[in-house]
Amino acid sequence: PVPETLSVLGVTHATDGWTNTTQAILDKTGRRLLHQPSHPLAILKDLIFDEFPDFAHYDSLDPVVSAYQNFDSLGFAQDHPGRSKTDTYYINRDTLLRTHTSAHQLQLLAAGKERNGELLGRAKNGVAAPENERFLVAADVYRRDEIDASHYPAFHQMEGVCTFSRNEVRDQLCKTRDAEGPIASSAARLLDTTEIGASNPVQPEHSAEEAAVLAEHMKRTMNRMVVRILTKAVEAQRSSGALPAEGGQAEFPVRWIDAQFPFTSPSWEMEVLFQGEWLEICGCGVMKQTILNDAGTPGRIGWAFGFGLERLAMLLFGISDIRLFWSSDPRFAQQFSPGQINAFRPFSRYPSCTKDVSFWLPASGDFHENDLMDLVREVAGDLVESVRRIDSFAHPKTGKISQCFRITYCSMDRNVTNGEINAIQERVRSDMVGRLGVSLR
Ligand code: PHE
Repeated sequence: PVPETLSVLGVTHATDGWTNTTQAILDKTGRRLLHQPSHPLAILKDLIFDEFPDFAHYDSLDPVVSAYQNFDSLGFAQDHPGRSKTDTYYINRDTLLRTHTSAHQLQLLAAGKERNGELLGRAKNGVAAPENERFLVAADVYRRDEIDASHYPAFHQMEGVCTFSRNEVRDQLCKTRDAEGPIASSAARLLDTTEIGASNPVQPEHSAEEAAVLAEHMKRTMNRMVVRILTKAVEAQRSSGALPAEGGQAEFPVRWIDAQFPFTSPSWEMEVLFQGEWLEICGCGVMKQTILNDAGTPGRIGWAFGFGLERLAMLLFGISDIRLFWSSDPRFAQQFSPGQINAFRPFSRYPSCTKDVSFWLPASGDFHENDLMDLVREVAGDLVESVRRIDSFAHPKTGKISQCFRITYCSMDRNVTNGEINAIQERVRSDMVGRLGVSLR
């Protein structure tokens, strides 16, 4: 039962057959966690903004974007799985909740630029914005996903974009060439040691040296940022007593894993060794030249990165459940203050309650786990801690498929009664029949 219109942040949008954004998700769009100065995510945002004083900083861009901004402008193929209704919250066919901060790349690069007398992008205050040659975007993003301690359908990302004029890069290359002989720049050496193969190629619009200069600058920039942040995480653990005063890691080895994104090439995933584990920090790469061309700046080349803030904030502040970021419990909020990293003291964990639900999939085969995830989120709100499939089998004679999911309920801030959870579970079960077309067993 989709309403005829949806109102998001005061703007009314028509719905259609693509609409799949639930009220539970729309409610998140107004929370503005990045704007509460003592919220851990805002503290981390400020920390990163401070690392990039010569970049323009954006943290108030509207989460409602066009499919063009989120996908087409970045070169996503028409059949890219990211576009699917099972992964993305659509307001309608052309309008959606951004799934990543990259959705703003083209618009910000183009801000204030003109082509054929027409203004490209949304100019900041209507004036040309040369500072948009380098910028950071921090924002809430939305993805349909599973439910567990590290996944939440709304989360936050930080995007970094840094561009150079081609001439600037060429001049710098000539200088190193003169100093060290033919193309023996450190950038070229770096390129040799990094796997840029057929599956991760330099774009035809770029020379190998240009790509190498960009990649080296990007990697150095990201290294510096990650080292600063993780050093602060270690300091916070020391002062909370979680680590001995002299203890903790002082160096943070990183590795760059080949990756693929529609909007960068070559591309990497940056991983850092932190307390014995390789953490996936972020995706990055040399920006697709088509984006810079479309932004009206064909004379520039650049790199971009994008990463999730929650995982880093969980490390920095010692927060173990992603739902806590959305908690309005004063026992959470009161523990933090602006500009300060300190270890979170977990408040008492309330007992959890698990319920299993077994059912036959609809004969149409039209069932997606993420539909179940959103249904449970809608009925149970943040009382749901995790939803996990624990069994699946096909009936040997009829071929019908049966699945069993285990739902764990647990409040972050109070005791729940059995009766309350039973009532929620009953609603989940009947909504599953009514909305997902399954038959309960
Ligand atoms: N937008 C990508 C994501 O959400 C991350 C990314 C940003 C990768 C910029 C490359 C460059 O996964």
